Amino acid sequence: MSEKETRTGSARPELPLAVVVSAGGIGSALARRLGQRNRLLVVDKDARALEQAVGSLAADGYDATGALCDITDPASVAALGKTVGAAGPMRILAHVAGLSPNMADWRSIMTVNLVGAARVAEALVERAGEGTAALFVSSLAGHVPPEPSAQVLAVLDAPLAPDFLDRLAAAEPSEVTSHRAYSLSKRGLNRMCRAKAAQWAERGGRINSLSPGPIASPMGAFENARSPIKAEMLKKMPLRREGTMLEVADAAEFLTSDRASYITGIDLLIDGGSMASWPADVSG
Ligand SMILES: NC(=O)c1ccc[n+]([C@@H]2O[C@H](COP(=O)([O-])OP(=O)(O)OC[C@H]3O[C@@H](n4cnc5c(N)ncnc54)[C@H](OP(=O)(O)O)[C@@H]3O)[C@@H](O)[C@H]2O)c1
Repeated sequence: MSEKETRTGSARPELPLAVVVSAGGIGSALARRLGQRNRLLVVDKDARALEQAVGSLAADGYDATGALCDITDPASVAALGKTVGAAGPMRILAHVAGLSPNMADWRSIMTVNLVGAARVAEALVERAGEGTAALFVSSLAGHVPPEPSAQVLAVLDAPLAPDFLDRLAAAEPSEVTSHRAYSLSKRGLNRMCRAKAAQWAERGGRINSLSPGPIASPMGAFENARSPIKAEMLKKMPLRREGTMLEVADAAEFLTSDRASYITGIDLLIDGGSMASWPADVSG
């Protein structure tokens, strides 16, 4: 901007770019946190939700724009790659989009949570540069037993294979339920971030996953109403309460900051000690 130019509104072109994939509960919490030091590109498949989220962020002084993208559609994700390329350089990718077990059938859950995330990672690694930090929001569910067989893990490690869902159905010993698909999708997501650490490092970037336990979000409330085991789980875990979206944002802010510059290829559990309440030999 030349000396004589002035700006109105909340545009802050000098700030680095944070791409937040989801205008939902945790996505909005992360956008608000990351938006304190970054320009925001908020991504969602629902035009109304996106418009509302971006409008609310802009009204509160954030530099926020929106991009429509259905992460299950390869062409849509490729277009997102171009949008990010034009808006970048990308400093942060926070991929939050996901479906919970009671929201859809197992194939849709797997297609959004793992295949969609893998597509986003593949499209946006090309936009990574020195200091870029990618974070994929996973889940505690990706750690809980039963441990999948080696055959299932091998299938999970190739989510972009054309026959991925059929191979998974064939490898699983019994019919895949939505709950099982949720757990497997998040386990696959953690493994993906670990496997991609070297690829992102080649470009100067980092990639991690973050696994929330029960979080008080609209999705959390939706699942609570349908899952009687949740109350029992809360009683058994050390911190005996749900986490907040702000606590997830705290961890996400750290992992995507330069203070985490030596952390890549890991999964950070933010679960109130849920995993600690399992026997020590349950590895997850
Ligand atoms: N809440 C919890 O207790 C909890 C616990 C552990 C992990 N998590 C994980 O945290 C993440 C966010 O959860 P949340 O509580 O914030 O739920 P949420 O409010 O339902 O957010 C999920 C987001 O995913 C988006 N999405 C779904 N399918 C998509 C697609 N095909 N393309 C693009 N976006 C799509 C939704 O977009 P629409 O606007 O189109 O609906 C929505 O914005 C999820 O990955 C979830 O598995 C949540």
